[in-house]
Amino acid sequence: MATDTPYTSPPVDTNFEPAGSLSPEAAAGQAKELAEALNYHNHRYYVEVAPAVSDEVYDALFRRLQELEATFPELQSETSPTQRVGAAPVDELSRIEHQAPMLSLNSSLEVSEVSDFHRFIERNSDGRSFRYVVEPKLDGLSVEIVYRDGRFSYGATRGDGRVGEDISRNLKTIPAIPLELRAEGDPPAFLAVRGEIFMLKSGFRELNRRRTERGDEPFANPRNAAAGTVRQLDPKNTAGKPLDIFFYDILASDRTDFDSHTQVLDLFPDWGLKTNPLNEVCTSVDELSAYRDRLAESREELDYEIDGIVIKIDSYEFREDLGYRNRSPRWALAWKFPPRKETSRVEDIVVQVGRTGILTPVALLDPVNIGGATVSRATLHNEDEVLRKDVRVGDRVRVIRAGDVIPEVSEVVDREASGRGEPFAMPESCPVCGTPVEREGAYYFCPAGLSCPAQLTGRLIHFVSREAMDIENLGEKNITQLVNRGIIRTIADLYYLDVGDLEALDGFAEKSARNVYEAIQGSKTRPLNHFIYALGIRHAGAHVAEVLARHFGSIEALEDAPVDELSTISDIGGQTAESIHAFFAEEENRRILARMRRAGVEPQPLDEGPSAGPLSGMTFVLTGSLEHYTRTEARRQIEERGGKVTSSVSSATDYVVAGADPGSKLDQARKKGTPVITEEEFTALLAGRSPDAGR
Ligand code: IVH
Repeated sequence: MATDTPYTSPPVDTNFEPAGSLSPEAAAGQAKELAEALNYHNHRYYVEVAPAVSDEVYDALFRRLQELEATFPELQSETSPTQRVGAAPVDELSRIEHQAPMLSLNSSLEVSEVSDFHRFIERNSDGRSFRYVVEPKLDGLSVEIVYRDGRFSYGATRGDGRVGEDISRNLKTIPAIPLELRAEGDPPAFLAVRGEIFMLKSGFRELNRRRTERGDEPFANPRNAAAGTVRQLDPKNTAGKPLDIFFYDILASDRTDFDSHTQVLDLFPDWGLKTNPLNEVCTSVDELSAYRDRLAESREELDYEIDGIVIKIDSYEFREDLGYRNRSPRWALAWKFPPRKETSRVEDIVVQVGRTGILTPVALLDPVNIGGATVSRATLHNEDEVLRKDVRVGDRVRVIRAGDVIPEVSEVVDREASGRGEPFAMPESCPVCGTPVEREGAYYFCPAGLSCPAQLTGRLIHFVSREAMDIENLGEKNITQLVNRGIIRTIADLYYLDVGDLEALDGFAEKSARNVYEAIQGSKTRPLNHFIYALGIRHAGAHVAEVLARHFGSIEALEDAPVDELSTISDIGGQTAESIHAFFAEEENRRILARMRRAGVEPQPLDEGPSAGPLSGMTFVLTGSLEHYTRTEARRQIEERGGKVTSSVSSATDYVVAGADPGSKLDQARKKGTPVITEEEFTALLAGRSPDAGR
């Protein structure tokens, strides 16, 4: 949340007297007020997207409630705002029957079918006037959530429409799902609602980036990621993920005085249930078409995936008259966007070399428009996949573009084409630099490292990135220019650029060139772990880089490390050890490192013991997600100031920094009485101020 948000709530007093000195009655009263305040602020933040207080105030209230519940255990309740995380893992998800069948929708692709639908409705309207509610069709997963007496009771996946899986514990970690409905809105005592859970596209990209870095398979698209995340057995794996929800239906309720969908959609936010702001009302096919076109156009700009629109009759009475057919209502229709799937002809299969040297077969296609984007290349993943699908030059193939992911060839649709090419085979040497390729599992890679020009652009992009050498304003476009113009031939050349070289780039003026120049110079003394990570050695992600930096203390010591030594270091597996060793055994890589040294690149060793710096000797534990820092960034900031980060709370821990949706470490800290600080307080600490300042 931006710190300059104009908060609308009057100043909140967060100076509390010691919890132990309260009477049980006073504590109960205060806990109730706190829970109400937290629910209100949660609603303002997640549902209205108009926060009334700063995160700092929210956190202070949250911690006070935690403190009261710890001191007076009888105050603990299942729907307390403190209970979003921390439920124990289960062995399997139990099945749960829905309050009412979760129906599905008939769907169409063509406007002619939408016209047919409209005519059918008109014929059955007996001259009554009627209107539609139109909504984006969210590409997520449908859930049922049941509230009893205004409290979250349970939530379930759609399953087969009649019985789903109980995912209550996971749903409770999603901040946009209220644990208590807003009493002010007078919600029904019993309410079963339906909504769609989805993952934000931005969060999905970040999640996949981290998964790939850890060596986990990336999710294919945000929907799979959302589905995988809410079906976790351990709610800790759901907590903190960028999941959100829009509610769109009442499945069952003890209140029966609802007349229309618009009425329900208006009531939902009063009860604390988030609805999609893009929902609208339409009366004609022209209006439906215009709405659909508008959404199709803005589709890419939305931070969540939609795959069409849903058209629903507004009046409940008319809905009942129209009825159902095959478990779908006759009163609704999904008008889907054309699938982002087309067929095209494979013109060629080339092999592309990525940043870490992995060789990826790519189909060059007769350009085809898929969902608004022209696609002329699609990945074939790896040799085994090409052979399994038997894709060859000349074949007609189906190409899928799913959201943000790279287009892929899913199957061959016609292999009768004359002039079918030979079966695919990986080249024996790197198509770019000619070095003999090596195989590892399903993948082939070029072991030439930094001297392979194809790897250079990718590696440079990685090298300058924030968690690596953090060289600002030297983006992909500039790097591509520098490589394509032959100004940079190895990573070391970066440190031999002068202001003039940069000024010659498109879009650069003297000032911007000087800024980038300064940024490059400034990166010469980055911490050693950042430098090692920046080299982009296969299997050496941020964590491995840090382990290496601590173990070896200098790049020279690491360069000469025998593979046996590498593989005995804890957290470094055999494959990783081999890869590191191979990287430094490569003559060209050693030359490049020496050239960087000559240019004055001097990565700084990580201090083990107390060192100079405002945080020297201090130990931190990070939990939950911070708004302004990634984990790596927070760790770096601490370490740059002489502090240390450990993964568990112990007597040596000075501070636990608690972000959003903190994990069990917060409980450990509470038990041990370790000071817990918020992100704001952490920022203050980094800036050299006391974390208590301003409290
Ligand atoms: S209404 C009886 N509204 O689409 C009608 N569904 O193909 C119940 N979906 O399983 C569904 N956005 O997961 C409705 N605004 C929306 C929707 C929506 C996405 C999904 C839902 C359903 C599927 C049907």
